[in-house]
Amino acid sequence: MRPTTVSASLLLLGTALAVPEVQVVPRFPGTCTGYPSINLGSGDRALPFQIIADQADNPTANLLTLYPHDTTLNGAPITYLAVNRCTECAAANTILQCENGLVTSWGYESPDIRISTAGLPWSGEGYTAGIYRHVIDGVDQGHNYWGAQNRTTWGFKVADDGAPEHYMVRLMGLEGEPTEAAWEPEFLGFVRVIQPHTP
Ligand SMILES: *[C@@H]1O[C@H](CO)[C@@H](O)[C@H](O)[C@H]1NC(C)=O
Repeated sequence: MRPTTVSASLLLLGTALAVPEVQVVPRFPGTCTGYPSINLGSGDRALPFQIIADQADNPTANLLTLYPHDTTLNGAPITYLAVNRCTECAAANTILQCENGLVTSWGYESPDIRISTAGLPWSGEGYTAGIYRHVIDGVDQGHNYWGAQNRTTWGFKVADDGAPEHYMVRLMGLEGEPTEAAWEPEFLGFVRVIQPHTP
């Protein structure tokens, strides 16, 4: 009986750590209205914001800022989302903005940030990022989550491109995209949108 008891508590532990099952509700899709920052000036504009790992199965990633990391895949330049693996290393301070429903880097001209299976190409193929709320048993869980196509669960994996000091991060469950870059995650988590420096 003893081994059964042990594996039962391991199962319970696994359940406790798992990313929760949530109903994902889009917030003002196609606009910047759902972003948690003040609207300066006219038009559909929200600025600035940051995205942080949240409720990840590996808690060492939680609350750390995600940032775009440039690399090459099969000789072609790509950019994917990354988060540092050590809490002591310098915190990434990447700041994003939303304008006319599209997310770009804050502070300089950049193409739209779009989400794809491979991670986060700056342009080209991919889905427009958006804000979502999480609802469990009819109760809004607070906070604004980042995702696309009604998906907000992200996969994390130690980078295998010569930059093991960070995790690669990609949105899970997207359909209709090339799969050659769709690596298997080591753990799952959400990505939360915050105003800068207020995790
Ligand atoms: C996302 O969910 C909403 C309902 O909450 C639905 O209206 C919309 O069509 C869905 N979008 C996609 C891409 O599945």
